[in-house]
Amino acid sequence: MSAHGSVLPMTSFKCGPLKGTAHVPGDKSISHRSIILGALSVGRTHVTGLLEGEDVLDTAKAMRAFGATVEKHQDGSWTIDGVGVGGFAEPETVIDCGNSGTGVRLIMGSMATSPITATFTGDASLNSRPMARVTDPLALFGAQSFGRTGGRLPMTILGAADPIPVTYTVPVPSAQVKSAVLLAGLNAPGQTVVIEKEATRDHTERMLVGFGAELTVEDTDDGRVITLTGQPELKPQTIIVPRDPSSAAFPVCAALITEGSDVLVPNIGLNPTRAGLFYTLQEMGAELIFENMREEGGEPVADLRAKFSPNMQGIEVPPERAASMIDEYPILSVVAAYATGKTVMRGVKELRVKESDRIDAMAKGLRANGVAVEEGDDWWIVEGCGMGGVAGGGTCETFLDHRIAMSCLILGFGAEKPVKIDNGSPIATSFPIFQDLMKELGAHVMVSNS
Ligand code: S3P
Repeated sequence: MSAHGSVLPMTSFKCGPLKGTAHVPGDKSISHRSIILGALSVGRTHVTGLLEGEDVLDTAKAMRAFGATVEKHQDGSWTIDGVGVGGFAEPETVIDCGNSGTGVRLIMGSMATSPITATFTGDASLNSRPMARVTDPLALFGAQSFGRTGGRLPMTILGAADPIPVTYTVPVPSAQVKSAVLLAGLNAPGQTVVIEKEATRDHTERMLVGFGAELTVEDTDDGRVITLTGQPELKPQTIIVPRDPSSAAFPVCAALITEGSDVLVPNIGLNPTRAGLFYTLQEMGAELIFENMREEGGEPVADLRAKFSPNMQGIEVPPERAASMIDEYPILSVVAAYATGKTVMRGVKELRVKESDRIDAMAKGLRANGVAVEEGDDWWIVEGCGMGGVAGGGTCETFLDHRIAMSCLILGFGAEKPVKIDNGSPIATSFPIFQDLMKELGAHVMVSNS
């Protein structure tokens, strides 16, 4: 059960063709950041296209607890009246971030250099995830944290009263850790420097510049060096949230494996730090076309057209691409099941500390449906069954993980027998319209009784 929903078993059936246009929701990463940076600005930020998934709504609630005014308007847009960098009030209640690792880690960073105390919790998934990766660098600023064994939530953070700026090399490829340090650096005097050896999604850097912070990025032999000058006055922005490439991945991949399909997924950002899946699919032989390529807000954007692709081949996914498609490995493993040959995914240890252990969760779900998977600590290999070769008939445990739930349901679209999932309620964290959108395209997905 998610923090918000009740257990929702679901079943998907062989179907096809999928046809039409799939308008996926707003980008989750940019939605969280719009609210948090809006809350740290002086004045009113306007946001349209915000993802109204549970994760983002929890971040909105949290920002209200820290003193910002966050409102939804009748036309569907949102405004955030910020309190300025260093202006957070101490929350009166525990901050519940639900299922969201991005939410909790970014919020911890944003309060850690203010002289306030806050206690954070989440659902069973979030409360089992590692937080030391964030609290270790926050301690360098002078913040203190008291959590459960292994650095787990619930956890209380005592923000630093006299924060000092830090230079920090992020030890794992993580945009959440990088962003937490940068957000903490906002209220430290002087320059905070974050070095990442592998480039991860760069929304925080781009948006901080948009909000008026002084931030530079330098590509060096040691990696990307990001330098932020602390204590700026952030200026409110008007933000149009682009549609989420990680959500686009689901209708795109569904079309590739479902006989006769032709689906258009418009307005998808192809920021190189996010678009790795689409290039991987093209290398596998997917009929995936980038139509109407253009630039919007300084970012490459395209309409994605995905057609049934019966002759995809398994490939070795370049490990250096992992960060740019880290959330897409579960759905890639489903496509891999319908390809011929092996799909080899290496350098993906981070998958083990997402909303679930995603290697373990997908391996179990695929095996339950007749697909062979081998796995090691930081790699896994899916043995393709070819189009028409997936047996189905199994039940997948989703471990409170939205992406496992959606991936396993899509597995059923081309399988001989229906595929069940034990709980689809976490889908609402990132893609609340998933079932309706898939049904509109022609998929057969339903809530089941067992
Ligand atoms: C995110 C970063 C990634 C990603 C998550 C969103 C972000 O997590 O998996 O869904 O918005 O910064 P990590 O930073 O843990 O890799």
